[in-house]
Amino acid sequence: MIETALRQDQISSVRDRLDRPVALIGMMGTGKTRLGKMLADALDLPFIDTDQEIEQASGLSIPEIFERFGEPYFREGERRILHRVTTEDPCVIATGGGAILNPDTRNELHEKTVMIWIKAELPVMLTRTGKTDRRPLLKNGDPADILRKLTEERYPLYAGAHLTVDSSGDDSGQTLAAMLKALAQHLDQEKAHSR
Ligand code: S3P
Repeated sequence: MIETALRQDQISSVRDRLDRPVALIGMMGTGKTRLGKMLADALDLPFIDTDQEIEQASGLSIPEIFERFGEPYFREGERRILHRVTTEDPCVIATGGGAILNPDTRNELHEKTVMIWIKAELPVMLTRTGKTDRRPLLKNGDPADILRKLTEERYPLYAGAHLTVDSSGDDSGQTLAAMLKALAQHLDQEKAHSR
C-alpha cells in the first residue's frame, strides 16, 4: 500500500499527544535503527538504540560481548537498559531483535511505550543482515535457516506490539509515513476510548 506523507501539522499533533516513548521491536535486518532515527527526526525527539547503549557502556562491540561473556550476559545488559529507557520522557527507542524474549521487558514495553513491530519478509532480512558481520547469532549456521527459526519463535511475542508496520519495501520514506500514520491512529483511538 502506498502511504501518503502526513502534513506537518499532523506530525506536530502526534508529537504533542505522545506522552511516552515509542519502541521499535522486530527481527534483525528489518531496519529498526534507521527507521527509529528517521522517526525521531520527524517527531523532533531523542533517539536511543539499545545495542549502541550496551556497546558504549561496555566499550565492546556486540560480537565481542557475545564472544567474551556469552548471550545471557548481553541479555541482562539489554534488560537493564530497557528498564531504564522505558521510563524516559517521549523518545524513540530501537530495541535489539531479542529484547522481547525477556517477559519483564515485554511487559514494561507494553505498559510504558507505544510498541511498533517492524516486520519485513525473510529475503529482505537476509539481504540486509548479509551486509555486515555484526550479528553473532547468524554466525553459527545458515543465516536463512536461523532467521526462519527465530521468526517462528519470536513472531508470537512481537505480535503483542500495539502496532505493526511492514518495512519490506525499498522506500524508507514510505515506511516512515506508515509509522506516523499508525501512531496518529493509535493516539486517536486511545483518546476515543478515554472519553
Ligand atoms: C539480536 C539482534 C541484534 C543484537 C544482537 C542480538 C537478536 O540487534 O541485539 O545481535 O537476538 O535478534 P538488531 O535487531 O538491531 O540487529
